Amino acid sequence: MSGRFIVFEGIDGSGKSTQLARLADRLTAEGHIVWTTREPSNGDIGHLIRLGLTGKSKLDEATIALLFAADRLSHIEEIRAHLAVGELVLCDRYILSSLAYNSQRLTLEWILSLNREADARLHPDLTLLLDLSEQEALHRIEARSDVVERYETLSQLYQVRQMYRMLADVRPEDNVTIIDASQNINTIAEAVYKATAEL
Ligand code: TMP
Ligand code: MG
Repeated sequence: MSGRFIVFEGIDGSGKSTQLARLADRLTAEGHIVWTTREPSNGDIGHLIRLGLTGKSKLDEATIALLFAADRLSHIEEIRAHLAVGELVLCDRYILSSLAYNSQRLTLEWILSLNREADARLHPDLTLLLDLSEQEALHRIEARSDVVERYETLSQLYQVRQMYRMLADVRPEDNVTIIDASQNINTIAEAVYKATAEL
């Protein structure tokens, strides 16, 4: 397995980052070259987005949606460079995050149009959607941090979860596998690994 783009998606608190790290460790131990990354990216635009998410910078919804799309386009070039040399790229969030989250207060049609270029440039070979109830997700968010970000309320998480599940059905190009994230952490890791083994 080489030169594959694997994306983790799910509502906040669904365990994406933990599972991404577990998979990275396992694939690295098997001898693969793994590059892990995330969106918002660690670049300048990603940094600005994070200030907006925590409320440290006043950014309205439409501006943030545009920044996510811009951040993604520069990130794609970085990802492609790693794929080109045969690495496995594991990415925490990608286009589906924009479609699921930013369509809550803006139209899905507009968010799709902002992401059209990214959609044309790079699709995931596999998207792992960690599916979890909004109640369980909020418990985990509250347990790990006292900084509550935009979107981290029960009703928002519910809406985003429904959107993810709908998108998984209508976007075959994202190659979505849904994983039950309410299971024990080792069971989830095993399911994630099995899904990648089919690539
Ligand atoms: P994180 O919690 O995974 O660090 O992501 C930050 C937040 O940004 C999370 O609530 C989801 C949101 N988000 C969007 O609204 N649109 C996007 O395109 C991305 C990548 C993230
Ligand atoms: Mg978060």
